[in-house]
Amino acid sequence: MHILVTGGAGFIGSHLCDRLIERGHSVVAADNFHLGTRANVAHLANEPRFELVEMDVSDRPATNALFGRTPFDCVFHMAANSDIARSHADPSVDLNNTFLTTFSLLDAMRQHDCKKLVFASTSAVYGEAPGRIREDHGPLRPISHYGAGKLASEAFITSFGENYGIQCWITRFPNVIGDRATHGVIYDFVGKLVRDPSRLQVLGDGSQAKPYLFVSDLVAAILLAWDKSDEKVNVFNVGPSTTSTVRFIAEAVAKAFGSDPKVEFGQGNRGWIGDIPRFEYDTGRIEALGWRPNHTSDEAVLKTVDILVGAAIR
Ligand SMILES: NC(=O)c1ccc[n+]([C@@H]2O[C@H](COP(=O)([O-])OP(=O)(O)OC[C@H]3O[C@@H](n4cnc5c(N)ncnc54)[C@H](O)[C@@H]3O)[C@@H](O)[C@H]2O)c1
Repeated sequence: MHILVTGGAGFIGSHLCDRLIERGHSVVAADNFHLGTRANVAHLANEPRFELVEMDVSDRPATNALFGRTPFDCVFHMAANSDIARSHADPSVDLNNTFLTTFSLLDAMRQHDCKKLVFASTSAVYGEAPGRIREDHGPLRPISHYGAGKLASEAFITSFGENYGIQCWITRFPNVIGDRATHGVIYDFVGKLVRDPSRLQVLGDGSQAKPYLFVSDLVAAILLAWDKSDEKVNVFNVGPSTTSTVRFIAEAVAKAFGSDPKVEFGQGNRGWIGDIPRFEYDTGRIEALGWRPNHTSDEAVLKTVDILVGAAIR
């Protein structure tokens, strides 16, 4: 298949490119390098079935031209704003990078008869929902612009699906961590300690508890859903059944860094406006397809801490 991976030079997108190439597909990765890097896909540079294109996916004429050049069979849409806290100050970041990238893609798919879309959605679409959240939870009331941009994207994906016969796989995942990370709590803590090894400032009181998913487990789930589920609209929560606290993560990073920093916690149980301090997922649907993560949330955290701290102090 000819596959387009938007955000293909990013954290998750680059891992997806690897697995899709391994499966024998031809892959074009489109990225504007907002957070993604050439280094994330440098190992694919000599791969004849891989191409990296620098472009802004929210640019409709450019995206349309890309589809005119390559007849894609399927799109994995990973491009989005990943800095949830930043869009509080500038909501247009999520309008452009989270929502308009999706609209631009859908419009190009419509015009070029591309019928399959795999979408990276998020737990943020649920807002502050109680209990173990199922895919059919509603009403959906996101509390971050990022969650709103993803929910609006999901809505346009299903309306384009109905109007133009585009089949979709929507996977909603929590915090994803691992090698090639471009952002996130562990990445932030390591960056802070590189700048000042004597102290580690934590946003919030450290009691925030969420599931953290290792990137290889996520990519396996996305591909399994794509392989095994064949409805018009396929929606899956993906995540471990366990959670980790921010306090656990801060202490793990501080210990691995080895500089015995003073860990300073903030006030309240939110890291930023729009942060959801606690949530748990029901992942029965993806598990029914045979998926199980190879890492608990704490195991994913400790493995990522090893990787990111190792890379920082090497
Ligand atoms: N990492 C997580 O914890 C997490 C959780 C839930 C959902 N997601 C979603 O998964 C996808 C991948 O996230 P990630 O963690 O790999 O983040 P990432 O920032 O590393 O990847 C996103 C990529 O999209 C690119 N991009 C952003 N705007 C673009 C635009 N307008 N045109 C072209 N490229 C653009 C960035 O440069 C980056 O390479 C995103 O859609 C994100 O919202 C991530």
